Amino acid sequence: MATLSPRFLLVRFLLVIGFLAFATHCQVPANQTFKIINQGEFGWYIIEYDASYRTFETEVYSFFTSPFRLCFYNTTPDAYILAIRAGISRDESLMRWVWDANRNHPVRENATLSFGRDGNMVLADVDGRVAWQTNTANKGVTGFKLLPNGNLVLHDKNGRFIWQSFDYPTDTLLIGQSLRINGRNKLVSRKSDMDPSDGPYSIVLDHNGLTMFLNNSGQLLTYGGWTGSDYGSTVTFDAVPENENATGYQLVLTTNQDTNSPPPPAGRRRLLQVRPIGNAQEIFLNQRNYNATYSFLRLGSDGNLKAMTYYNKVSILRWEETFAFFSSYFVRECALPSMCGAYGLCDKRMCVACPSPKGLLGWSESCAPPKLGPCKSRLAKVDYYKIVGVEHFLNPYLDDGDGPMKVGECREKCDKDCKCLGFIYKEDTSKCLLAPLLGTLIKDVNISSVGYIKYSK
Ligand SMILES: *[C@@H]1O[C@H](CO)[C@@H](O)[C@H](O)[C@H]1NC(C)=O
Ligand SMILES: *[C@@H]1O[C@H](CO)[C@@H](O)[C@H](O)[C@H]1NC(C)=O
Ligand SMILES: *[C@@H]1O[C@H](CO)[C@@H](O)[C@H](O)[C@H]1NC(C)=O
Ligand SMILES: *[C@@H]1O[C@H](CO)[C@@H](O)[C@H](O)[C@H]1NC(C)=O
Ligand SMILES: *[C@@H]1O[C@H](CO)[C@@H](O)[C@H](O)[C@H]1NC(C)=O
Ligand SMILES: *[C@@H]1O[C@H](CO)[C@@H](O)[C@H](O)[C@H]1NC(C)=O
Repeated sequence: MATLSPRFLLVRFLLVIGFLAFATHCQVPANQTFKIINQGEFGWYIIEYDASYRTFETEVYSFFTSPFRLCFYNTTPDAYILAIRAGISRDESLMRWVWDANRNHPVRENATLSFGRDGNMVLADVDGRVAWQTNTANKGVTGFKLLPNGNLVLHDKNGRFIWQSFDYPTDTLLIGQSLRINGRNKLVSRKSDMDPSDGPYSIVLDHNGLTMFLNNSGQLLTYGGWTGSDYGSTVTFDAVPENENATGYQLVLTTNQDTNSPPPPAGRRRLLQVRPIGNAQEIFLNQRNYNATYSFLRLGSDGNLKAMTYYNKVSILRWEETFAFFSSYFVRECALPSMCGAYGLCDKRMCVACPSPKGLLGWSESCAPPKLGPCKSRLAKVDYYKIVGVEHFLNPYLDDGDGPMKVGECREKCDKDCKCLGFIYKEDTSKCLLAPLLGTLIKDVNISSVGYIKYSK
């Protein structure tokens, strides 16, 4: 058996010490790790979605950087979401949820949020199942911070971000947050106030623009957005001071059209604008006469895209709506597919009628499209009722459909297509648009646009 010289052992010992020192250096200091259990009292402020919430803190971390705080919230019993909230504590105004970690995988009472020496942040349910994690074990993470802009970051010893919540937007962009083609390129709505999981609406950045889609059982229908133009690899929500005195702010979406380099400060293109700017395009610009740094842009569960801005000079309702895609000053509200709920005829921001085979009835929230029988037996038994002077939300995005063709051909196509719930026929251009979903029908002054709605005889 070979014996090792004392000298060799010493070298080995020093190597091991050196390695340990190096490894320790790149780890989270023991006193900055944490393990938080989701239990205890709820907070008592009025919170968005009528949620119950829990705040937490450790000796080292408050998890609060005004006005943002990391919390657990629930809208249904025992289904908690780890989230970032915006709003000043003790402020009577409604606080808003601006980022969710685990919206599709809620956790229960006694779930744990832990940040270990390896630098991974993990949310595990009470049974140990991992609901969400940052996947940053042994990647050099040495600390964690909630920044004043609402970005939750895990950084290395040089302050470089190894992971950041800004890279994982859910339905909301904060000021400075981006959608990226080479990363998370979309916002997805939540299902409802009660249900935070992925809903049917999304706004997606790709080389065709920034497009709003409605997911109709897997089929993506365009219903809004800024389409037909390549905005480059990144679109960022921003509040830009209007002049050197910073008395006014503009809410904008800035874009970067060069896919290889970071966005230059000059030459950015502005998309999201609420007041007309110059005469370049039919794009609007919003200007607030106050500091609009605390704003967010959200794709709501109704499919509308809205910006809200926190204005602390008023005592109530401090979150002011500063932009809405479907609004009196941008795209007409009647073009929002959910405007009249499941079904309805919309005229000038009002749901004016519930179309039926018997004619136009009064609209209420219970208005629904006709129920159709099982598809195979449908063909012989369907008929259509006619509504003169309507458009579908898809008309502008699908160039009024196919054609020219005769109305009989259009009807035949719809007859044969189980997914077709009706069609819009343009009598002047003979264009035919099949509707895979009805929702809100838009009253059109032009009576040559005629809707035919399928129903079972
Ligand atoms: C954590 O421990 C380090 C030494 O490892 C010490 O320098 C630092 O002050 C401690 N921080 C706190 C908040 O206790
Ligand atoms: C959570 O854990 C505590 C002990 O820490 C226990 O008393 C309580 O019953 C647990 N709650 C649930 C819902 O499991
Ligand atoms: C669309 O919805 C279906 C469920 O109806 C889902 O499986 C699919 O992933 C969704 N697609 C997109 C792109 O969101
Ligand atoms: C900024 O403020 C200074 C001093 O109050 C004023 O002279 C100047 O005109 C202001 N600039 C703008 C662009 O409003
Ligand atoms: C606007 O508000 C932000 C956040 O409170 C602050 O950091 C910034 O300095 C303000 N800008 C001006 C010009 O006051
Ligand atoms: C209806 O639309 C057609 C073409 O789309 C147009 O030529 C006609 O003038 C419009 N009629 C009215 C009343 O707006």
